Amino acid sequence: MSHEKVETNIGLMMILIVLVVSVGGLIEIIPLFFNKQTTEPVSGLKPYNSLQLAGRDIYVREGCYGCHSQMIRPFRAETERYGHYSLAGEFVYDRPFQWGSKRTGPDLQRVGGRYSDDWHRLHLTNPRLVVPESNMPAYPWLNENTIDGELIANKMRVLRMLNTPYTDDDIASAPESVKGKSEMDALIAYLQVLGTSVSARR
Ligand code: HEC
Repeated sequence: MSHEKVETNIGLMMILIVLVVSVGGLIEIIPLFFNKQTTEPVSGLKPYNSLQLAGRDIYVREGCYGCHSQMIRPFRAETERYGHYSLAGEFVYDRPFQWGSKRTGPDLQRVGGRYSDDWHRLHLTNPRLVVPESNMPAYPWLNENTIDGELIANKMRVLRMLNTPYTDDDIASAPESVKGKSEMDALIAYLQVLGTSVSARR
């Protein structure tokens, strides 16, 4: 009997399981490529400017995602605390997105505009300066390192190939606009824009 053959042959069983699971996965995933809600930016969403883009890289480099998610779930407890729940169209320019699931600290998706730049500067230099009970690490070196403008321009070129709508002008002016900026300036610029295209509508 063919069923017996499958159940007594672990190699064949594995192959068949992989097949069945991938068909199930594809059926779930493929329609999302054609769904406007998941592929088109929400109205008002702008690609990161050069400084924000540099800040995003620092966020990734420093592993902020290890303690902070950027994904507000559509539940009352979440929306009361953080603001409007996350929409897929807010992340179309994020490569890769920083959703995460680990929340040692609060979700940061709508942190943009919640604090002043000065607050962030103190907080990132040493969180205990503004939140005495904080167990977030300090990142004082961000004040000392500066941003490499040519590198950012190149990154923007690559992102444009992936359909992020940067103009020639955006790219040409990138090195000039991040000149002399510290990694701290960049990271703060990134944090201050997070989630703002939607939270303005609340
Ligand atoms: C070890 C875990 C941990 C890491 C890593 C971490 N944080 Fe935090 N973060 C926290 C905790 C806990 C809090 C809440 C206490 C506080 O405000 O300091 C917090 C708070 C924050 C807040 C204030 C959020 C709010 O709504 O009040 C911001 C902004 C923030 N972190 C940014 C960052 C950035 C940027 C990085 C990476 C450079 C980072 N964090 C890395 C644990 C972490």
